[in-house]
Amino acid sequence: MNPDTAFNGYICANVLHGLERLGVFELLRDEKSLDMDRFCETNGLDSAVFRALVGAAESFGYLDVRGAQVRATSVGEDVARYLGFFTWGVGGYHDIFASAAPVARGERRFGVDLHRDEGMVALGSAQADTALMRHILDEEIAGIDFRTLVDLGAGVSERVSRLVKARPGTRGIGIDISRPATELARDTVAGYGLAGTVEPVCADVLDILFNGQEIDGGDAADVVMSFMFLHDLLAAPERREEVVPRLRKAFPRAHTFLLADTTIRPRNEEGDGRLPVFSSGFELAHALMGVPLHTREEYEELFERGGMKLRRSVPFGAPHTYLFVLEAS
Ligand SMILES: C[S@@+](CC[C@H](N)C(=O)[O-])C[C@H]1O[C@@H](n2cnc3c(N)ncnc32)[C@H](O)[C@@H]1O
Repeated sequence: MNPDTAFNGYICANVLHGLERLGVFELLRDEKSLDMDRFCETNGLDSAVFRALVGAAESFGYLDVRGAQVRATSVGEDVARYLGFFTWGVGGYHDIFASAAPVARGERRFGVDLHRDEGMVALGSAQADTALMRHILDEEIAGIDFRTLVDLGAGVSERVSRLVKARPGTRGIGIDISRPATELARDTVAGYGLAGTVEPVCADVLDILFNGQEIDGGDAADVVMSFMFLHDLLAAPERREEVVPRLRKAFPRAHTFLLADTTIRPRNEEGDGRLPVFSSGFELAHALMGVPLHTREEYEELFERGGMKLRRSVPFGAPHTYLFVLEAS
């Protein structure tokens, strides 16, 4: 990237996130065009600010503006699939990225006086799931038998609810350390009409693995899943090797583990030399937070050493992201 594209990319990412939060891309997807005057009036927006945002998006090539009428260009239509990354990066991690120098100097520390926006991170993950990952998981789980499904680091329990809803007679448990996420999960479950069938539980998975905490019904789990959370479980180097054996022990009846995560991109990769969306931000954000990441090979070797048999590693929608389908052997 030269300085022009670097600077413009930064502004453009903020513009795309702003327009997404205002519902512009959703409306353009459904109605194809938007009248700026009517849109500002309906949504109580400052018309000068909104017009400036639209004008910036036009100069970046995302919108086509004729008078007050706005339409998406072809790149403006394409970006809809990737908006989750902007929600994640701009909405969730803006403070972390902007604080790189104080973090490097040790003046600020993630989790102490520097925080991400957890809600935006969760929303971005959910948007990326809907746009890029959902169909891959559905295909994979179609061939797997289960009666009790457990999701670790389940966020708002959207996935576990959707999968249980699609398989009548099954049950689900969504475990997350975040109290607000677990409370939102109760709404998700109610929205699916699954109260009493899917149980959101607020707990630290590390307590389940290492401190003997038991979850009601957890011992019945026959399939255990986790999405974009494995690197958190493996963060402490001294316990890393133990995580996979402890997962098998904590869920003794589980025959299948579906574990998905983004990996470190291979630096010697062949191809057109283009850097894909997301990977650079994912890697830098975790370095700034002090959370180590892993290559695909490191994950695969860790599973095998921990006594799980890798059935396959399925590319999972986002760059360098894989769904590891594992049998408890
Ligand atoms: C990147 S989000 C992924 C959420 C969801 N699985 C998804 O893919 O959309 C990671 C989630 O793990 C949760 N989490 C982090 N550490 C945890 C722990 N030790 N025990 C349980 N949940 C944890 C966070 O609260 C967050 O909801």
